[in-house]
Amino acid sequence: MNYQNGIEEILLANKKIPVVTFNSKDQVKLAIEQLEAASVTCIEITLRSDAAWEAIALCKKIVKPDFKVGVGTLVNVEQVSRCISLDVDFLVSPGATSMLIDKMQMSGIPYLPGVMTPSEIISALEKDCRFLKLFPFNLAGGLAAVKTYASVFPKIKFCPTGGLNEKNYEEVLAQNNVISVGGTWICEV
Ligand code: 3PG
Repeated sequence: MNYQNGIEEILLANKKIPVVTFNSKDQVKLAIEQLEAASVTCIEITLRSDAAWEAIALCKKIVKPDFKVGVGTLVNVEQVSRCISLDVDFLVSPGATSMLIDKMQMSGIPYLPGVMTPSEIISALEKDCRFLKLFPFNLAGGLAAVKTYASVFPKIKFCPTGGLNEKNYEEVLAQNNVISVGGTWICEV
């Protein structure tokens, strides 16, 4: 089944998702060159800076055709509309409301809603979501939370982010209910 407009394919192809906040569009070219040189084929650009939209537009222009440009930190439907007009490749939100999930579903763009608690996971399941960002992973309980959620929510695969780094990500990625991981440590601008 094609959950969340096909997000599974992107997550399977990208086990490590760089989460990047650009403070200027001048940082974009070098970051993309570095990622492509390291065989990374996606980026999640956060909406945490004034330069974010310019950086997203530039990224879409310069990347190779199979490189996926995602937008993260989505917290409202207006931002999703803007992502549609920029033809971005995937959407990520730190949390999820019914309204936000509906909008992301209607966009036709692959999307990854964020969750942290059991009730949020149940709400996402009710919307037929199966792939969820577990954020903030470190505050949710880290590896212990991932292991507990495996038996409680066997249908869900997580992409944990928040507090992951070069030293701990492999153990997290090795969990059966983890499809990929993300974080800022992968690409520093
Ligand atoms: C995210 O948006 O996924 C997180 O802010 C990444 O957190 P990190 O800086 O701990 O990797």
